[in-house]
Amino acid sequence: MIIAIDGPTASGKGTVAAGVARHYGLKRLDTGALYRAVGLAVIDVGGNPSDEAAAVAAAKALDLTAIDETRIRSSAAGLAASKVASQPAVRAALLAAQRAFAADPAGAVLDGRDIGTVICPDADVKLFVTADLPVRTERRLNELRSRGEQISFEELQAQIAERDRRDTSRADAPLRQAEGAHLLDTTHLSIEGAVEAACRLIDAAL
Ligand code: C5P
Repeated sequence: MIIAIDGPTASGKGTVAAGVARHYGLKRLDTGALYRAVGLAVIDVGGNPSDEAAAVAAAKALDLTAIDETRIRSSAAGLAASKVASQPAVRAALLAAQRAFAADPAGAVLDGRDIGTVICPDADVKLFVTADLPVRTERRLNELRSRGEQISFEELQAQIAERDRRDTSRADAPLRQAEGAHLLDTTHLSIEGAVEAACRLIDAAL
């Protein structure tokens, strides 16, 4: 069983994907982590994430098993991620690894921006997870503050809106609700509530 979960930043898709994977006993790939790791690898050596040659080289050199789960969560890595992700050559370089993960006969949960549209268009179930911008900003603010990053609500909300704009307007694999994807709005849901709602949608779709 392949479950494809897409949605914008801080919509709750990562939390939902982790909970769904646990519930159904499936392995999970957070594809945003790949773009974050590539963006981080470029800025770590003083490179420009918008420089295609540098970004593609980092994508080709990426080791999925050696991603620094803490450092990729910084806002700097997130911003670099959205810049490398807008380049078709970077997306192409990361395609095979994602498809290989999804090809496991035991099934998998993949979450990102283009799972239902590009990576796994034949997924058994597709979810599009969303939430209102101020709620997403509040969630990301709490996450960044718990990591010791200081940023104002207004500045972060502007950053997230800019990230949304870049993700939805890019020519290659823009963020959008895939055909057949079930919409899950987590604005008024707790973590447990969002995972339960996702499992109900999945059970009903199978
Ligand atoms: O989901 P997360 O915030 O970790 O993703 C970081 C960035 O990676 C996003 O802003 C998006 O530009 C990019 N991304 C993507 N396609 C995916 C997953 C993430 O373009 N499948």
